[in-house]
Amino acid sequence: MALRIINTRYYPKYHIAAPGGWINDPNGFCYYKGEYHLFYQYHPHTAQWGPMHWGHVVSDDLIHWNHLPVALAPTEDYDRNGCFSGSAIEKDGKLYLVYTGHRDTPEIPEGFRQTQNIAISEDGVHFAKYPENPVAVAPEDEQIHVGDFRDPKVLKNEENDKYYMVVGSRTPDRLTGQIVLFESEDLIKWEFVNIMARAEGNEGFMWECPNFANIEGHDILIISPQGIKRELNKYMNVFQSGYFMGKVDYDKGVYIHGKFELLDYGFDFYAPQITEAPDGRTLMIGWADMWYNIMPEQEDGWAGMMSVPREIHVKNGKVFTTPIKELENLRTAEKSYENLTFYKPMKFDGVSGDCGELILDIDLTETAEFEIYLRASKDKTQKTVLSYNKALELFKFNRDEAGAGGDGERECPVVAADKMKLQIFLDRSLVEIFINDGEKVMTSRIYPRADSTDIIFVPKDGAFKIDSLKFYELGVGIPQPVVD
Ligand code: FRU
Repeated sequence: MALRIINTRYYPKYHIAAPGGWINDPNGFCYYKGEYHLFYQYHPHTAQWGPMHWGHVVSDDLIHWNHLPVALAPTEDYDRNGCFSGSAIEKDGKLYLVYTGHRDTPEIPEGFRQTQNIAISEDGVHFAKYPENPVAVAPEDEQIHVGDFRDPKVLKNEENDKYYMVVGSRTPDRLTGQIVLFESEDLIKWEFVNIMARAEGNEGFMWECPNFANIEGHDILIISPQGIKRELNKYMNVFQSGYFMGKVDYDKGVYIHGKFELLDYGFDFYAPQITEAPDGRTLMIGWADMWYNIMPEQEDGWAGMMSVPREIHVKNGKVFTTPIKELENLRTAEKSYENLTFYKPMKFDGVSGDCGELILDIDLTETAEFEIYLRASKDKTQKTVLSYNKALELFKFNRDEAGAGGDGERECPVVAADKMKLQIFLDRSLVEIFINDGEKVMTSRIYPRADSTDIIFVPKDGAFKIDSLKFYELGVGIPQPVVD
């Protein structure tokens, strides 16, 4: 039985969250037999991280999700301390989950061992662990730490019909993150190919949750590195998630790539996972939280949620992430304003709430600097503050006064242009901000009081000119817990 939720004040209306208990990384994101499946790292019994299970939700439109029974639980010797993150892939009509078995092992110096394992399903609901698990272990004669060796993501290379698996790891001295590449003809027998990429300079001591795909002609490696050190106002979160663009040679297992770029500049985005939709789009969902950040919803019987599904595109040599277009189908009421120029703080009728989507086209030729308060209380003492300063070319997200656990600011460089487009999703305790059609994204949790619902537009230096302002109320996409 999952832990009971006793208060829904922070519970999302349309983002994926657990029906009680703790969640972290998205796992096994896939399209199988006409439905989208998302699994997630799950501890059903408490609102804290614990021995990991795989929770499971399903959807036929990517916006309305339903809970399914737990797909994997730690039952075997090789996964006795947790079924850690992994991915899913269809073969011959069956759904294969490929995941990390985590096993405490006091008898070896590393203290634990991680191996890659498989569970197979014919209906997408019930999974049988493969009797010959594990299917991949860290090869002993390679520079791979046998403990930290996890989060397999499997893909098929249509060009040579082989399956490939990227696994997150680090060197045995624990100083350098890296990705290990395996190949297979049948998803069962895996062979080590190479260590395909390794951290250089300030790129971290452990690389978690790799994803690898060819997206619009570019081989893109997404990783969630631990151990990147703060550089001024960059890399302020404890861990990061980002990507490289480059070219892989599958035979040699060598990946030549450019520099590490962040996927998100907010407080809370980690361990994203991608999948390919039937129409060819690359979709991505991340955990909209960050390790060790405070999560006041734990008092309420749950913890953690997912980002909205995003689409990945490559533009000007960079990855852009935009909210999936299906989210438009969640819109209910709409408020729309045009050609607004004002010199003092303004609220607009029908533009407020704890759940909704705000779209702004801002004229930066007339606007030097602005702030936007989200989730503001009537007396404005509680508020989440977004701001942009054109001269500094900095967009900021400040949650000092956002509510419970408010703590500081995150910055995002945005080159000044004539226009700025903002698309902002609010869902009770989550804010996702897409800047300039996904050029930059900031995802952060906030914990305001339920009655702090004002949205206030604040000019800072002369005019605030908005060409178009739209606010949509959004419907329910995840079953709402019943609290008696
Ligand atoms: C990333 C991670 C993974 C691991 C999982 C355990 O957030 O640390 O590397 O598989 O969480 O829950």
